[in-house]
Amino acid sequence: MNVKKMLLAVLIFLPSLAVAAGGDTPIPLDAMEPNLKDQASLQRGAKTYLNYCMGCHSLKYQRYQRTADDLGIPVDLMMEHMVFDSSAQIGSLMENSMSVDNAKQWFGSVPPDLTMYTMLKGGPDYFYTYMRVFYEDKTRPLGVNNLLYENVAMPHPLVELQGIQRKVCKEIPKLAANGGEMRTPLAGDPILVEQCGDELIQRGFSPLELVEGTGALTPEEYDQVIYDLANFLHYTADPSRLERERIGIYVLLFLAFFFVFTWLLGREYTKESH
Ligand code: HEC
Repeated sequence: MNVKKMLLAVLIFLPSLAVAAGGDTPIPLDAMEPNLKDQASLQRGAKTYLNYCMGCHSLKYQRYQRTADDLGIPVDLMMEHMVFDSSAQIGSLMENSMSVDNAKQWFGSVPPDLTMYTMLKGGPDYFYTYMRVFYEDKTRPLGVNNLLYENVAMPHPLVELQGIQRKVCKEIPKLAANGGEMRTPLAGDPILVEQCGDELIQRGFSPLELVEGTGALTPEEYDQVIYDLANFLHYTADPSRLERERIGIYVLLFLAFFFVFTWLLGREYTKESH
């Protein structure tokens, strides 16, 4: 086997390696099913984004006009209540005024543009998980850390909504050598053992606990806020997805219809050649 063939074989299998690497996260991702038909959710996501994220993260591959049109937001409402950059026009790109130098000085790292973020991370699940696993960590410069992105240089922008989460140890059922849960012989109650950090994650438990009364929303309401944000970023990563899928159905219907005539024509041709 020559070198060329070997190279070709490696190249063919490279993409599958990339997919395999995608699943390599420190904690399992929580899945979310985006729904681009849910305009109310997309509108809420856009509102949260423009209120809480836009100061640091631009959406510079998207325009306000397109967002307003696609999400069914009246232009004057959008300009008055959702756009806080006084120099921005409805036709402007969704940029912000944070310079790279300032960002580096303030955070030690530049907040990335998030227009294509969900595409980059292989879907909105990563984002949905990332925004829900910030926790208090006094050893970090900003006082927070993140289970999915260790030593992240971003403050938790929604801490007032979610509340403070702390890393704790929890009592969970002890496992026997055969992998089953251990129970007391008479009553059959599970035998508990205290576990912390990675051991909890490996057993499928969250090592985080919400400090009561520190957030304005319940955990369910907060999850909904992040769902809407993830849905919105799923939209910005590919704004014409809905339209494309709609047209795709017509194209397939047309092909099916066209097939009948092509087949009839083909039959006509073969008739003559016999
Ligand atoms: C005060 C500035 C600031 C605000 C506000 C902010 N971020 Fe960030 N964000 C950052 C910085 C800085 C980073 C880079 C972190 C790093 O690389 O360590 C970042 C990184 C990220 C990342 C990328 C993580 C990765 O995988 O690389 C995401 C996603 C993100 N932010 C989402 C948001 C969302 C959503 C909001 C609004 C709810 C928000 N951010 C608000 C500063 C901010």
